Amino acid sequence: MYFESHAHYDDEQFQQDRQTLLQCLPQCGIDFVINSGSDLKSSYIGKELSEQYDYIYFAAGVHPHELYDINENVIQQIRQLAEHKKCVAIGEIGLDYHYDTFPREIQKYWFEKQLLLSKSLHIPVIIHSREASQDCFDIIKKSGVEKGVIHCYSGSLEMAEEYVKMGFLIGIGGVLTFPNAKKLVEVAKKISLEHILIETDSPYLSPVPNRGKRNDSRNLEFIVKKLAEIKGGSPTDVANATLENGKKLFF
Ligand code: NI
Repeated sequence: MYFESHAHYDDEQFQQDRQTLLQCLPQCGIDFVINSGSDLKSSYIGKELSEQYDYIYFAAGVHPHELYDINENVIQQIRQLAEHKKCVAIGEIGLDYHYDTFPREIQKYWFEKQLLLSKSLHIPVIIHSREASQDCFDIIKKSGVEKGVIHCYSGSLEMAEEYVKMGFLIGIGGVLTFPNAKKLVEVAKKISLEHILIETDSPYLSPVPNRGKRNDSRNLEFIVKKLAEIKGGSPTDVANATLENGKKLFF
């Protein structure tokens, strides 16, 4: 029923009950999970989880917050991971001008490197873009990458439309249920369902009514419900459509 397009089950917040939780996901209607990498270590854990559970796939990549040890050798290791049969994307990669953990020029450099990696491997990208809308868009456009998802979309409607034109999907998560999510509600309303993926970004960003608690994929139901409300369809239709979108992009 649900395609969870973005979660971090490698996170230490799942240390205590990871196995119990992951085992029960199919009974809760979660058909597929993409575990998103944020550095080399989490990408390796994603690979291990994908080998343990049929329904878990993974993305390998280095997040703009995690550029501490990045070098050419790390890129080569990401490439090797990406050749694994259950690695479905390079990610999450991108730019974060909110935290600016690393200088922007450094972020851009490694973002481009990883985009080119995805291009040479012909696999999609999972993009993290925060307060860096225009630069992020320009760099993707220049790279020639045309397959991927803008995870946890937070930009304008106009930018979302540009991404859709380029072939990208828009990732929508728990923020949609927050009272101040006006801009995202507008995006969800106007962007056609065939261009939308659902995600939790677990363990972060739990939707209402579980806001503030640790997130997991079982909360997708609240995101789907809200999305159905906005778009005027049934939750089942939204779940099925986004499931097909996920399969089409990643498999
Ligand atoms: Ni994430």
